[in-house]
Amino acid sequence: MWVGVDGHLEDDRQLVKRMSFVMRRFALNCPMAVKSSIIMTTPLIELNNVSKTYSTAAGDFVALKNVNLKVGGGEFLGIVGKSGAGKSTLLNMINGVDELTSGEVFVYTDGKKLSVHDMGEDARALWRGQNMGVVYQSFQLLPMLTLLENIMLPMDLSNNFHPRKSRDRALELLQLVELEEHAYKLPAFISGGQQQRVAIARALANDPQILVADEPTGSLDSLTADHIFEVFERLVNDQDKTIIMVTHDMGLASRFSRSLTIADGELLDGQDDSNFDKTIARRR
Ligand SMILES: Nc1ncnc2c1ncn2[C@@H]1O[C@H](COP(=O)(O)OP(=O)(O)O)[C@@H](O)[C@H]1O
Ligand SMILES: [Mg+2]
Repeated sequence: MWVGVDGHLEDDRQLVKRMSFVMRRFALNCPMAVKSSIIMTTPLIELNNVSKTYSTAAGDFVALKNVNLKVGGGEFLGIVGKSGAGKSTLLNMINGVDELTSGEVFVYTDGKKLSVHDMGEDARALWRGQNMGVVYQSFQLLPMLTLLENIMLPMDLSNNFHPRKSRDRALELLQLVELEEHAYKLPAFISGGQQQRVAIARALANDPQILVADEPTGSLDSLTADHIFEVFERLVNDQDKTIIMVTHDMGLASRFSRSLTIADGELLDGQDDSNFDKTIARRR
């Protein structure tokens, strides 16, 4: 059961119906969100022999070993592995937050193949801001800004939207995650699940094609986590977003459109292209 925007209780089915309605309306208001990325023969993201070694006082530590991976547009890919398996490291290689030791990461944006780690730091940060939304376990909302301001911030930083437009868009995004009535609250005054929905709305601010999520449900109870999953599923199904989510929770594997396992810095499956090809074939 959920408390609806007007205060009455709704069951899950009603909520799903309402979410679909809001999603459809949002997609109409946002033509850029309607992309033709699902049917494609080339991947959206491609990792070739990616390795990462951390140098520590105790010596070198190999956190990722020759990871090969292709992700198609419109996939909801889950990467499941225990704590310390290399999940966060892998995401940081994909979004270019951290440098890789060897290998290459390509992302196809606007029809162009782009090598993420060949860009300079500033160009990479700019590119990430436009093309990748990032969601963390700890939400990372700015505590002194209202929910609305938190969502406006990436738009204002990127100068993608006129300030008045960014406000309207932030309100639409809050509506998308069903939190519009809390727009002017500070993050401390809403629940953890609600904060994560704001963080997802913020990640969507610049309308990126790709979302990466690092244990986004890790600190939420199972019902709240379920709602976050529903939001992700709708973003994939209704808005053609591509989502890569990592989690230590093996029980979530069946909820992704494809799930891979990572252990000791190695992807145990998905080293060949067969899974990727199957996903693409299913979507045709
Ligand atoms: N900055 C770092 N310096 C040294 N070792 C690190 C660093 N970041 C992560 N590691 C190590 O790399 C391994 C993988 O870490 P991480 O990618 O955070 O795993 P996960 O997200 O799956 O829990 C762990 O053994 C961790 O201790
Ligand atoms: Mg981690």
